[in-house]
Amino acid sequence: MVETIVWTDGGVVMIDQTRLPLEEVYVTCRTYQEVAAAIREMVIRGAPAIGVAAAMGVALGALHPEGADFDGHMETVCKTLAATRPTAVNLFWAIDRMKKLYASLRGRPVAEIQGALVSEGVRVREEDIAICRAIGRNGAPLVPDHKTVLTHCNAGALATAGYGTALGVVRAAVESGKTIDVFSDETRPLLQGSRLTAWELQQDGIPCTQITDNMAGHFLKSGRIGCVVVGADRIAANGDVANKIGTYSVAVLAKENGVPFYVAAPISTLDLTLASGDGIPIEQRAAWEVTHVFGRQVAPEGIAVQNPAFDVTPARYVAAIITERGVARAPYRESLRKLEERS
Ligand code: MRU
Repeated sequence: MVETIVWTDGGVVMIDQTRLPLEEVYVTCRTYQEVAAAIREMVIRGAPAIGVAAAMGVALGALHPEGADFDGHMETVCKTLAATRPTAVNLFWAIDRMKKLYASLRGRPVAEIQGALVSEGVRVREEDIAICRAIGRNGAPLVPDHKTVLTHCNAGALATAGYGTALGVVRAAVESGKTIDVFSDETRPLLQGSRLTAWELQQDGIPCTQITDNMAGHFLKSGRIGCVVVGADRIAANGDVANKIGTYSVAVLAKENGVPFYVAAPISTLDLTLASGDGIPIEQRAAWEVTHVFGRQVAPEGIAVQNPAFDVTPARYVAAIITERGVARAPYRESLRKLEERS
């Protein structure tokens, strides 16, 4: 399985997801500013992976203090990382976790604080892999045998520290002996489905078929899709789910055709401070992502463009939310609260 992100003595090493699948290139971030740029430019992406990168970014920031005011410097580090992408709540969850640890160490020697923050960043990564495996174990029984799983975007090893959330469910179903295959929506505008999901499943030898986004309804109607499994960037208290743009359309089409639509996500993706998905901030990205494909212009010069990176799927379309602590079903206000409180 591919290494998405690792801590090394030389810095934080990430596979460059903007270059896949044609080139397998690794970049080393030596400063927190470089980590922030890698998140912003989507060298690393996917909610849990962004969280791991942010935790390691805070640790890198601690290792390279600027000026005499260490507290002020750490505040700048956290602010810079928090300003990279707005939707995936895992980013803020990870920064808060590092901030709390830092606060608990106030007054200790700087070297001790640095060591503790580095260890915590490494721990966030290790925990994420274990969490994904648990999500996989909890989700595998829901996957119908001898059927196809439809997925959108990339919620795989590349979107996490390893194994994946939605693709973790696929991997665990395969490991449990089920004969399944995957249909991967290509996921315009940045093609995470065709560039990343198809690539990582191919690496693992899991049968995968590439389709364009507008083919999803056709195949959901055909009877071959046993379930849809996607990841999430933020889940509100009522079970509304923010995920990659296009997820909502897939969810509606799944319901229309009687196909269960599952969301696989860690507890760190829950944002129970939000009553509904209406409060989830949706990232708006640059127009060129829509007007261009791999640097080639595919829309007329000067055309108006909208480019929301995520949409919100109302809870009524979600058959279940699969977490490392168990599977939540409607009414989500109660089931998600119970899972969050369980340790
Ligand atoms: O813009 P991206 O590529 O970061 O969006 C990623 C997604 O929407 C994923 O489905 C989500 O983060 C879940 S990743 C396990």
